[in-house]
Amino acid sequence: MGASADTSDISHPLVATVYDLVVPDRLLFESHRRYLTRDLSGRVLDIGAGTGANFPYLAEAAPSVEIHAIEPDRYMRRQAVTKARNSGCAVDLRAARAESLPYPDDAFDVVLASLVFCTIQEPDAALEEVARVLKPGGELRFLEHVHADGWRGTGQHVLNPLWERVAGGCQLTRDTVERFVCHDAFAVEQIERIDRGIFPATPIVRGTLRRRQ
Ligand SMILES: C[S@@+](CC[C@H](N)C(=O)[O-])C[C@H]1O[C@@H](n2cnc3c(N)ncnc32)[C@H](O)[C@@H]1O
Repeated sequence: MGASADTSDISHPLVATVYDLVVPDRLLFESHRRYLTRDLSGRVLDIGAGTGANFPYLAEAAPSVEIHAIEPDRYMRRQAVTKARNSGCAVDLRAARAESLPYPDDAFDVVLASLVFCTIQEPDAALEEVARVLKPGGELRFLEHVHADGWRGTGQHVLNPLWERVAGGCQLTRDTVERFVCHDAFAVEQIERIDRGIFPATPIVRGTLRRRQ
């Protein structure tokens, strides 16, 4: 755990309040969340759980799964606690950031990262932490919006300063897939690019990486 564990700088009460109202999650992401939570077993960690959008799907996988999650923003965490309760999802939810995960090495069978590597302040440090806490052979399953090509990419660069202010620090211009596939600790199992979606947070990429032995 090299990076700071302090979460106090991550605080977006307005975003947390409106997030579930403005994001049509079932419409946009239901099939992707089912992809993330398919055939789970063992210990699972959801990083940057937000309002707990994965929890109803994780609840369906329980009781064969031990569910853990971290979320640094206390306003998001509050929503996530309610979501967990309402969906019957028993989750150990902690105040932490992905750059400094409060778990020992090799602790998890699966780590879920959904719409979060766009927002994490130090994504390289976070990926190191994911590699550390995953068991050899474990999976990083992800769903992320990434930098587009062509005029859409140019538009993302133009919009980004405004977007990050209204969207809780979310960056439109991250090359998250390159970051993932270039990391020595992971082998690519599957990567799927989905061009459908709502500009500027498109394209979306989902996939599975396996922690090398
Ligand atoms: C767009 S939301 C996505 C939430 C959820 N994963 C989902 O699929 O809906 C991004 C989340 O990342 C969280 N976040 C911000 N910085 C983070 C960090 N350094 N480590 C972990 N999560 C972080 C934010 O508080 C926010 O809840």
